[in-house]
Amino acid sequence: MALYSEKVMDHFRNPRNVGQIDDADGIGEVGNAKCGDIMRMYIKVDENRTITDIKFNTFGCGSAIATSSMATEMIKGKTIDEALALSNKAVVEALDGLPTHKIHCSVLAEQAVRAAVKDYYDRKGIAYDPADFREMDEEELHEHCGL
Ligand code: FES
Repeated sequence: MALYSEKVMDHFRNPRNVGQIDDADGIGEVGNAKCGDIMRMYIKVDENRTITDIKFNTFGCGSAIATSSMATEMIKGKTIDEALALSNKAVVEALDGLPTHKIHCSVLAEQAVRAAVKDYYDRKGIAYDPADFREMDEEELHEHCGL
């Protein structure tokens, strides 16, 4: 079996929603200290809390590019709450899987979305529970990755 699914290769070669939004309502930037990869996510949100546009830049591996591309496709046109409910597992499933040692790359995509929403809340002065947005420690990250 090939290491990467057709969908992963497709999103890696032709990533959707690449770029930046100059007048974004929220920008999230996250990095993985171990591999040094960085992901930046931009969201545009309307008055109904719907994400009308989303773009990303990923300075990282192919799996990080494929997962951020898929994540943006999955939450474009969705509400903030739906975006927050997006898990890295759902993104991996939508890509027909990732090799185990690449699951952590999908966590970066989930975290980038959450960081962009947090930034949106901060800019708009919307109250939230900081516990919902704290950074995961090593152990949780591993649980998340199933490693
Ligand atoms: Fe760093 Fe994939 S190896 S995000």
